[in-house]
Amino acid sequence: MGRKPDAATKFGGGGGGGGAASPRPARRAPPSPVFLGTALFVLGFVSLFTGHVVTDADWSRIRSRWRSKQFRNNEPIDIWKSKYSSLYHACSERSTDFRSAVLENSSTGYLLIATSGGLNQQRIGITDAVVVAWILNATLVVPQLDHHSFWKDESEFSDIFDVDWFISYLSRDVSVVKRIPYEVMMSMDKLPWTMRAPRKSMPDFYTSEVLPILMRRRVLQLTKFDYRLTSELDEDLQKLRCRVNYHALRFTNSIQAMGQKLVQKLRLMSSQYVAIHLRFEPDMLAFSGCYYGGGEKERKELGEIRKRWDTLPELSAEEERSRGKCPLTPHEVGLMLRALGFGNDTYMYVASGEIYGGEETLKPLKELFPNFYTKEMLAVEDLEPFLPFSSRLAAIDFIVCDESDVFVTNNNGNMAKVLAGRRRYMGHKRTIRPNAKKLNVLFQRRNEMGWDMFSRKVKKVQRGLMGEPDDIRPRQYDFHEFPSSCICIRKPENTSVTA
Ligand SMILES: *[C@@H]1O[C@H](CO)[C@@H](O)[C@H](O)[C@H]1NC(C)=O
Ligand SMILES: *[C@@H]1O[C@H](CO)[C@@H](O)[C@H](O)[C@H]1NC(C)=O
Ligand SMILES: *[C@@H]1O[C@H](CO)[C@@H](O)[C@H](O)[C@H]1NC(C)=O
Ligand SMILES: *[C@@H]1O[C@H](CO)[C@@H](O)[C@H](O)[C@H]1NC(C)=O
Repeated sequence: MGRKPDAATKFGGGGGGGGAASPRPARRAPPSPVFLGTALFVLGFVSLFTGHVVTDADWSRIRSRWRSKQFRNNEPIDIWKSKYSSLYHACSERSTDFRSAVLENSSTGYLLIATSGGLNQQRIGITDAVVVAWILNATLVVPQLDHHSFWKDESEFSDIFDVDWFISYLSRDVSVVKRIPYEVMMSMDKLPWTMRAPRKSMPDFYTSEVLPILMRRRVLQLTKFDYRLTSELDEDLQKLRCRVNYHALRFTNSIQAMGQKLVQKLRLMSSQYVAIHLRFEPDMLAFSGCYYGGGEKERKELGEIRKRWDTLPELSAEEERSRGKCPLTPHEVGLMLRALGFGNDTYMYVASGEIYGGEETLKPLKELFPNFYTKEMLAVEDLEPFLPFSSRLAAIDFIVCDESDVFVTNNNGNMAKVLAGRRRYMGHKRTIRPNAKKLNVLFQRRNEMGWDMFSRKVKKVQRGLMGEPDDIRPRQYDFHEFPSSCICIRKPENTSVTA
């Protein structure tokens, strides 16, 4: 028995798809300001008469008109910041007819939630737990965190998240209590009923299968709660997801302070920095079935780790690589970033656990970017109180990555997904997803071309994966990565688009 790394989705883990995995060809370029301005104006004008809201469909119709033109123009982008981000704003407010929280004393019962996985998988579970409580008119008991995952972290919800803020922020949507009231506990003659919902269930599942049990038993526990609700919900429920994920879930003061301290240290050295979630860790590499040129030693080591999972199919490392399923090496991530235009004076924060191959593997990246930092390097002894708690360490990395000007994902795990979505919501802060499939071809041919040609080709294959508002979505994308219901186009009169 082993954990599934916070990683790939090909064996039904993680949910969603894509990430570095299998983006469609990069064919979308950023919109032309002039055209967008006109398009937004026309749409706004039309909606005056029809009360029509700009939908995804409208939006893609507009885009398809300028896409081909833009692509030919090959407009260079500002690698630090999307200039189109100001055309959008976050919109997760409740609509006026959204049902208010059902009071505890008139709710259908108490919902206990046991989350599962690492910090970000649990975050997704907590987000959906609130939505399920709303669907069921239930009172939510503050979720229990997973203490038995591979990460073995004893932290409680209130050690990671500000629990009072969580309860008060959500009070208009769902009643949340810290524990089941004593009288209710005493009145129960049996332990709470426990069940596990299938992955990605529809709301109907909860009203037809879960509600009757909840009402009969009054207290119900849902276990292994992570991706237990479908990615596609009504707009109002998607917005509730955003209120939970982007507002109600706030780290405790001590975690927040530690994260901010690291951010300040970086900002003192440089006004801008890039954060990379490298995730080049032994379990991740073993799980992916990839090979990184370390000969028999690597095959043996990773093969040994691979035995943790009893259901992994035989994979051809070559094939996985050509399908873009292998995380880039630190060196390759560095080459991609330099080719995209980040200079050797760029400040780099690397979020990661144990790097496979250690210093040796990191060396080429450090040579490309000498201003290289990790939380251990920035915090030194301040980090000590956090060291025994993997979730708290992950939370600190989360904060520094979230605050970065540019965030680079090197995997399609939960942290990468959650942060990518959050950064879109918070104003399309740049997030770069490596196009592993096409980059691999370029890395193999690196010696056949000069640096300028290589750089041009890297820029080309990365189009549509740079965190622009109109990025390419993987075929089976996840709401947590593309929270489109919570991102609105600014009203034309409020958009300062000029030629
Ligand atoms: C439920 O609780 C609210 C305050 O928490 C109270 O005003 C209301 O009377 C209670 N309703 C019932 C049916 O007990
Ligand atoms: C929740 O409460 C609302 C109104 O109070 C009601 O219309 C709805 O049917 C209830 N849903 C469930 C699942 O009990
Ligand atoms: C960056 O590269 C230039 C030469 O291309 C070199 O002179 C300079 O020392 C390098 N900067 C750092 C921080 O290594
Ligand atoms: C324009 O946007 C700002 C936020 O950037 C908002 O505060 C203001 O109310 C908006 N004005 C109009 C007319 O929508």
